Amino acid sequence: MTREASYFLPSYFDAQFDAVIHFAGLKAVGESAQKPLLYYNNNLIGTITLLEVMAAHGCKKLVFSSSATVYGWPKEVPCTEEFPLSAANPYGRTKLTIEEICRDVHRAEPDWKIILSRYFNPVGAHPSGYIGEDPRGVPNNLMPFIQQVAVGRRPALTIFGNDYNTVDGTGVRDFIHVVDLADGHIAALLKLEEADIGCEVYNLGTGKGTSVSEIVRAFEHASGKKIPLVKAGRRPGDAEIVYASTEKAERELKWKAKYGIDDMCRDQWNWASKNPYGYGPPDSTD
Ligand code: UD1
Repeated sequence: MTREASYFLPSYFDAQFDAVIHFAGLKAVGESAQKPLLYYNNNLIGTITLLEVMAAHGCKKLVFSSSATVYGWPKEVPCTEEFPLSAANPYGRTKLTIEEICRDVHRAEPDWKIILSRYFNPVGAHPSGYIGEDPRGVPNNLMPFIQQVAVGRRPALTIFGNDYNTVDGTGVRDFIHVVDLADGHIAALLKLEEADIGCEVYNLGTGKGTSVSEIVRAFEHASGKKIPLVKAGRRPGDAEIVYASTEKAERELKWKAKYGIDDMCRDQWNWASKNPYGYGPPDSTD
């Protein structure tokens, strides 16, 4: 079978695809610096293969999960979609490169419709408490780490940097509830139905900055648990303050985040307290 022929699904799989949302990818920054080829192979080759399969099936509508990481250390905030882009590590370079690949694909074949969604910091969980984040090994990101301290799996949260030029010296991020983020994808899919949208980029954030200390306090309040803290130096590659301009998404996608930090912490704690070891038994997750 040729490579192209293998792109066609077996005949019993007779579904029609109107559009694709491409969420897949490796996302640990530190690991990407140690294993760049793994990241380039998985994230870039995976995306190229997906685009080829889509084209083979005549499906040319895509929503891609990009990241605010492409803004690097922004010179000012809020970050608008027109800001200069950079990559500080192989993970970020895969996001940036995939954005460029998508622009090239659209330039070559203008019937493609592509939305590049730049996620800020997705946190929280489904309000049911049945669906949430369950990273393998030691979490790299802030909220999963706080959650694991709150349920007693880790003794303390290390705060990376308390000398930033921010409200309390800790880094500031734009945390967005995963349910808002999911709604942003519905808005993006609807946008793809419009004529001639081309290849467009949208920030998916709340437009509000929250410091690491502020989110720890909000989580303590939501969970009723004390989060022991250890102060450490800045994490290499971390930016000081990153939050989104949401104007373009509000105007063109008619989408705006609804939930605040307290909602995010409440739902994250609901998921964590019902599933302290995520989806697996205690010995399979650490
Ligand atoms: C990180 C990645 C970003 C990626 C995103 C995916 C880096 C430098 N950036 O974003 O490229 O798109 O995850 O979700 O890794 N913090 C602590 N203690 C911790 C963990 C984090 O103090 O144990 C602080 C960080 O220093 C930062 C903030 O919490 O100030 C948010 O960190 P994190 O959740 O890792 O997200 P980003 O760094 O914004």
